[in-house]
Amino acid sequence: DVCSSDLIDSFFSKPNEFILYLFLYKINKLKMSKNNLFRTKPIATIIKQGGDGEHSGLNKVLTVKDLTFFGIAAILGAGSFTSLGEAIFKGGPGVVILFVITAIACAFTAFCYSEFASRIPTAGSAYTYAYASFGELFAWIIGWALIMEYSIGNIYVAFSWSDYFTSFLGRCNIHIPSYFCTSYMEAKNAFMNHSANQELIEAWNNAPMIGGLKMIVDIPALTINLLITYLVYKGIKESRNFSNLMVWLKMAVVALIIIVGGYLVFSRGLTFNWTPANSQGVKSFMPNGFGGVMAAVSGVFFAYIGFDAVSVLAEESKNPQKDLPRGMLLSLIICTIVYILLALVLTGAVDFKNFEGIGDPLAFIFEPQNLNIGWMQFLVSICAVIAMTSVLLVFQMGQPRIWLSMSRDGLLPNVFQKIHPQYKTPSFSTIITGLVVGVPILFTDKTFVLDFTSIATLFAFVLVCGGVLLIPRRTKETGKFHLPYINAQFIFPLIIIITVISVNYLVPTYFVNAFDLSADKLAANIPLLLFYILCIVMGVLSFTKKLSLIPLLGLISCCYLLTGMTVSNWLWFGMWLALGLVFYFSFGYKNSKLNV
Ligand code: ALA
Repeated sequence: DVCSSDLIDSFFSKPNEFILYLFLYKINKLKMSKNNLFRTKPIATIIKQGGDGEHSGLNKVLTVKDLTFFGIAAILGAGSFTSLGEAIFKGGPGVVILFVITAIACAFTAFCYSEFASRIPTAGSAYTYAYASFGELFAWIIGWALIMEYSIGNIYVAFSWSDYFTSFLGRCNIHIPSYFCTSYMEAKNAFMNHSANQELIEAWNNAPMIGGLKMIVDIPALTINLLITYLVYKGIKESRNFSNLMVWLKMAVVALIIIVGGYLVFSRGLTFNWTPANSQGVKSFMPNGFGGVMAAVSGVFFAYIGFDAVSVLAEESKNPQKDLPRGMLLSLIICTIVYILLALVLTGAVDFKNFEGIGDPLAFIFEPQNLNIGWMQFLVSICAVIAMTSVLLVFQMGQPRIWLSMSRDGLLPNVFQKIHPQYKTPSFSTIITGLVVGVPILFTDKTFVLDFTSIATLFAFVLVCGGVLLIPRRTKETGKFHLPYINAQFIFPLIIIITVISVNYLVPTYFVNAFDLSADKLAANIPLLLFYILCIVMGVLSFTKKLSLIPLLGLISCCYLLTGMTVSNWLWFGMWLALGLVFYFSFGYKNSKLNV
């Protein structure tokens, strides 16, 4: 009560204290008001609006097997078939370590997704979870960041799909002119930078001109986007059957690559490739150091994106509270094993330095100058096309379902929740997703969309783990997933101390380099310094507040992966978020269903 006599006294005696009281009063009033930016949506309301299946209008047909298949369909794609090559070139065989670190970060995050999915089984994924924990503004920010994961990520996959598809056609002696299977920006950048990639230079030089503009368009990428949008529009059941078939096929071929490649690595005595010489001529598993390994974080993390997409199918699952967590974790475990084996086979088969600029690394290892198995090259090209089709399908299904949830909350126009009367799919949102993926295909390139997707998804993961730390604990219910509570009070500070001592012992120069604040290192080291400050703050909080260990480790490990992002990635991402805030304040804030 600001008008109390104590306060009036304090205005005269201690003006500073008075201002503090006034400030606290204002904050409190803001929190109590229903129009504040951090208003949360009660879990009971969220479930009533969709999670019970009564109100969602979507078909509830998916089982745990379908969900696991969806997870694998989403995870295993362009990350392993394309970006793995560049990741190996940067990190050498040591990139396997990054796959393990990333898998651990993703596993902790999957537990957090599972906890939320079992409490709030609705479409909307991280967006809905943030609405219940952090409040509306953060929910909007996550929803906005998820556009990058689902739609912008699909642009990368569509480009990779096109690469493998055209090389597959090439092996069948069908040739598409290079200016009709290349992105405009890629060809332009190659020309400007005098790239050695003749195909791109040729695309730029030979492209037909219309009105002074070079007609360089990735037609296969546009076409696959159109077909996938059509399939998703038609319905979940058809998409599910198609997706399951593709997962079987791609798992079989990936297993074959591991068996044939692994056998040849050992039988031809190529295991020396696992310890190539570094720049000083010393044999090392990490020839470019740990810095080189961390430089590959965008590509490696991209390979794991997808397990979380399972959660958007909550309203189409038969028993979401039990099956969603299982589907997510199972798909993550299977893909982690596959990635570690694939990375070992690839780095054993060919010297890591030869992977520079290689967009089809899984086929590349079987080329004549490497393992020289012609039929495997052919098989891998077909398989890559199949694998990436399934990734496109899952993400193209995920995006409209998130928009559906945002529209239900009033943060997007009503038309986004329109369900097709016959196909029972979010029809308008599906078409808009097709456009959001399709239009940028005309003017972006692969590197840009890969970095953008990884940073935004990691950001969303951090908020999901943080959200689990914020929501109150609950008692265990039979038949539902329940995140085990492990008190982090002593364990977390101990983990930090042991990690610091071990790293310092194993790599004595590590912290000296990390704390180097000289002008040329400052920009690169700021994210690491912020990360160490975060560790200390969370160490204190875990001690005082007895935080739950699993979400805490999820938060910390995802933040660690974020330190691998470059300054320019952060700038682009910051601009994207700023644009999102403009949208929120001009529409969502005014139309939110939580408004009084
Ligand atoms: N993880 C998915 C892929 O690699 C996005 O294509």
